[in-house]
Amino acid sequence: MAESGSLQDVVGRLGDLPAMPELVVEVLRVTDDPESGMTEVETVIQKDPALTAKILRISNSPYYGMKQHVGSLKLALVILGVREVRNIVLGVSVFDTFRDSRADAVLAKDYWQHSFLVGALCKKLGSALGLSVDGESFIAGLLHDIGKLVLLRQLWDPYLSVYQESGGVSGPLCEAEQEVLGFTHCDAAMALAQQWNFPQTLAHAVRLHHPSKSIPLTEAKDPELAALVRMANLTGHAEIEKKDDEDPGTIEVIDEEAWSVLDKAPSPIAVEDRGRVLTDFLLELRDSPPPTF
Ligand SMILES: [Fe+2]
Ligand SMILES: [Fe+2]
Repeated sequence: MAESGSLQDVVGRLGDLPAMPELVVEVLRVTDDPESGMTEVETVIQKDPALTAKILRISNSPYYGMKQHVGSLKLALVILGVREVRNIVLGVSVFDTFRDSRADAVLAKDYWQHSFLVGALCKKLGSALGLSVDGESFIAGLLHDIGKLVLLRQLWDPYLSVYQESGGVSGPLCEAEQEVLGFTHCDAAMALAQQWNFPQTLAHAVRLHHPSKSIPLTEAKDPELAALVRMANLTGHAEIEKKDDEDPGTIEVIDEEAWSVLDKAPSPIAVEDRGRVLTDFLLELRDSPPPTF
């Protein structure tokens, strides 16, 4: 995906972003090192018991959808795999770094529920389509709206009014962000991803979770992952609108650009079945509380 010159402007506007915590740097180093094994990864993560507890809470949450209880970090590394655990560490530490009580008060529970829901939907839709994006699909969904947290932390006053006036609803929010700030929460997420050295597949999927006029999905490092996040986000918002309905009916999620990528998956979903499949995923998840962390 072409880097636009404007990303540098965004980085400038956001000011100094916090650095990645030392322990995460170490986790990334150890997981990238072909000489290191699972025991080394476990030793590094275990230095932070709170982080270990959060990994287990996420792995055992209904959103993660494991059939088996994950009782220890060792088991998480065996069942989920090193790459997935590494990505969960990255996700947890992004949230830990950018989340504070001010942001929590603004974003409220909906943000967390929506983030976990989109993570879960990415995972479910990815496996229904037979895509080999496991290891990144959950975390890409979980982090898709991280740009909102980055903007609240870095530009509190101007962003707060943009956020509140648009009601935090995607379409109007992106427009208001663009109008007032000159960039969106997608751009803010990309700036963070660059500084924190996110895997490019993950960075591009987060960057493109709302349609972009200048960057087609096919330019993403992994267009399937990016299309999954786009679709899961739309589905997650459909859920919010139908929260109080007794019968949610069949949702309609229209994004031809994303479906044109997903239609090439090993097990594509027929056009007439799309709404039903996504609605069923929502019904499985809609009442689950997000894990606390
Ligand atoms: Fe968003
Ligand atoms: Fe979202």
